[in-house]
Amino acid sequence: MYLFHIRTYGCQMNERDSEALSCLLEAYGHQSVTEEESADVLIFNTCSVRDQAERKVLGKIGIMKRLKAQKPALKIGIIGCMAQRLGESLFEKLPHVDFVVGTGQMNQVPEFFTRIAAGETHLSALSLEVEEAELSGHQGQSLTSYISVMRGCDQFCTYCIVPHTRGREKSRPIPDIVKEVREQVDGGSREVLLLGQNITAYGVAEARKEGIYTPEFSAFADLLQALQEIPGLLRIRFTSPHVRYMNQKFIETVCRLPKVCKAFHIPLQSGSNRMLAAMNRGYTAEEYLQCIEGIRSLAPQAVFSTDIIVGFPGETPEEFEQTRQVMHQVQYDMAYIFRYSQREGTRAAKTLKDDVPENEKMERNQILLSELSEGVEKRNKAYLGKTVEVLLEGKSKRNEERWTGRTDLNKVCVFPPVEGFHPGQLCQVKIGRTTANSLFGDIIQA
Ligand code: SAH
Ligand code: SF4
Ligand code: F3S
Repeated sequence: MYLFHIRTYGCQMNERDSEALSCLLEAYGHQSVTEEESADVLIFNTCSVRDQAERKVLGKIGIMKRLKAQKPALKIGIIGCMAQRLGESLFEKLPHVDFVVGTGQMNQVPEFFTRIAAGETHLSALSLEVEEAELSGHQGQSLTSYISVMRGCDQFCTYCIVPHTRGREKSRPIPDIVKEVREQVDGGSREVLLLGQNITAYGVAEARKEGIYTPEFSAFADLLQALQEIPGLLRIRFTSPHVRYMNQKFIETVCRLPKVCKAFHIPLQSGSNRMLAAMNRGYTAEEYLQCIEGIRSLAPQAVFSTDIIVGFPGETPEEFEQTRQVMHQVQYDMAYIFRYSQREGTRAAKTLKDDVPENEKMERNQILLSELSEGVEKRNKAYLGKTVEVLLEGKSKRNEERWTGRTDLNKVCVFPPVEGFHPGQLCQVKIGRTTANSLFGDIIQA
C-alpha cells in the first residue's frame, strides 16, 4: 500500500483525470494524501500547452532529486500531457523519475505501483492508440462534478499541442454519461461541468465513420437534452465549444433547456480573419459573431467568456486591433488571454516564425486585460439592488466568515451566512456592492 499525492497542472481535463486516477488507485488499496511531504509516491499530472507550463513543472520535479536523495523510498511519476509529449526522454533529463504515463494509459498506474514496489524503475506507458474504458470514478461529494464526455482533439489548430498529447477524438456513449451524472447527483452533486477539448464535436468522429454526419448533426445537443431530464440536477455547464460545429440545433438547444446555464465559454483566439486562417480555426470573425448573435437572439441574458492568443506569428498591430474590436463588440464577462508560445511539433512551429517580440506580446496582453476588467466592472454595476439566484457552495476561501456561491451566469456572490441554509441549496441574494470579480449582498429569506 502506498500513500500517494497527485499534483495537477493544466486544464480541467487534467483535474478530472487526477480525480479519476485517485479513485482507481484507492480501489487498489492505496491512499491519497493531501500533504506532499507525507506521500510515498508523488505524481505530477502535467500540461504542455505553453512553454511556461512545462518549465514550471520541470523545475519542480528537478528539485525533487534532492528530496529523493534524503528519502530514497520516495517514488516519482509524471503523467499527463507533458509525459505524453516528452515520453522516455524525461528519464534522461530527470533520472530520479520512476515512471511516465501518457494521457491514454492512466489505467496502467496501479500496475506500475506494484512494479516500483518490487524495485523496478523507469517504467513507461505512452501509447495513444489503445481502446481503454473511460475512468469514471469520482471522489467525495462535490457540488459540481466534472464529467469528461469525450477525449482528444481532431482540430489541429496550428499553434496547439493538445491533438499531439491527447490523440484523436473519442466520445463516450450518451447512456454512460447519463449514468455517471445520475450517480453524482444521487451523491449530492447539483451541477455538472461537461468537459471536452472540442465539445461541440461530441460524437462527430463516430458519426462520420458511420456516414451519418450532416451539418445539422449535434449529438452534443442530444446529450444536453438527456441530462436535462435528470431530477435533482440543477445546472449544466460545458467547456469548450468550437464555433466550427456550432449549428442551429446546438444554439437552439442550449438556449431552450432551462438547466443549461446561459454563460458560455466560446474561444475566439483572434478577431483577424487572416490570423484565424493561419491558426486553422475554421471560422471567420463574422461567423463567430453570428453564433454569439444567434445565442443572444434566443437568450438575451446570455453572457460570454473566451480564450485569446496575442502575438501569433505575423500578427500586425492592425490585426491585434481587430481582436480588440471583436472583444469590444461581444463584451465578454471573462477572458483568458495568452501570449503565443511556440510548441515544437505543431504546424505553426514548423512553418511560421515566432516574430512578435515578447514585449509587444505583453503589451497587447495588458491592453486586452485592462479593457476587459473595465468593461466587467462597469457591467457588474447593473446588478446593484437586484436579487439573483445563487447556488450556495459554502464558506468563502478568502473570508471564512462569508459564504459564497455562483449565479447561473457564473457570477461569484459573497454574503454573510444565514442559519438554516446549506450548501447545494439555491438562495436569493440581494446585491449591495460589486467589483470586477464579485457581487456582494445578503440572502433574502422568503
Ligand atoms: N480546446 C480548447 C482550448 C484548449 S487549450 C479550445 O480550442 O477552445 C486552452 C487555450 O490555450 C486555447 O484556447 C488557446 O487560447 C491557448 N493556447 C493553446 N495553445 C497555445 C499556444 N501555443 N500559445 C499560446 N496559447 C495557446
Ligand atoms: Fe487545441 Fe484547437 Fe483542439 Fe482547442 S480545438 S484543443 S485549441 S487544437
Ligand atoms: Fe494542458 Fe493538456 Fe489540458 S496540454 S491545457 S493539460 S489538454
